Amino acid sequence: MKKITIAIDGFSSCGKSTMAKDLAKEIGYVYVDSGAMYRSVTLYALRAGFIAADGTIAADRLEQAMPDIRISFKFNAETGRPDTYLNGELVERDIRTLEVSNYVSPIAALPFVRHAMTLQQQAMGQEGGIIMDGRDIGTAVFPNAELKIFVTASPEVRARRRYDELKAKGEEHALEDILKNVQERDYIDSHREVSPLRQAEDAVVLDNSHMTIPEQKQWLLDIVARHTKE
Ligand code: DC
Repeated sequence: MKKITIAIDGFSSCGKSTMAKDLAKEIGYVYVDSGAMYRSVTLYALRAGFIAADGTIAADRLEQAMPDIRISFKFNAETGRPDTYLNGELVERDIRTLEVSNYVSPIAALPFVRHAMTLQQQAMGQEGGIIMDGRDIGTAVFPNAELKIFVTASPEVRARRRYDELKAKGEEHALEDILKNVQERDYIDSHREVSPLRQAEDAVVLDNSHMTIPEQKQWLLDIVARHTKE
């Protein structure tokens, strides 16, 4: 079977990363979580004090610091998934907090941040055999990807999933705060000027609001099989 590039885009918290990771494991592809890269830049900016309490971003200072932000992934044999490293430090947990989630969309809207991340992502995908998930993978990063999937689910379903996920990690938040965060991110992600979240014309839509994990997995395997036939 030929190795292709698979781009998975869609709204936040609709299970893109989990499905992409599981699919990559199943078919032996490399998985790259592009959201983790924007989250890592956000974590760096927060730690460096580039984001004020009122949310104002010191964009000039962040732009100057960009060459000092190195993001890499290392496969974790225990979890079977890649972990994210920021300048050599394992940050997989630190980039998933609600604090980072609250600031990541404005950071990801900065053109110089997008430019730097897009170049790194394209370099990672040169060989094919890659699954990358994000918001602009099928439109800006890999416009020639052989398979593009656009994932969606209702905001309420997504907020509930995020709530359960954070709770499982011991982070308890009101469901309505999470729903607000999901809706705000949807808005910023799809209205920003550079590479906004939108469905590529040749993408296949997957609405998983009412799908079970096994149903979704079968759906993915079927579509990959159709696209990898020689
Ligand atoms: O997939 P995620 O929720 O971890 O992504 C975090 C944020 O990063 C999301 O709010 C939008 C941004 N993002 C982006 O702008 N482009 C991507 N390719 C991936 C994520």
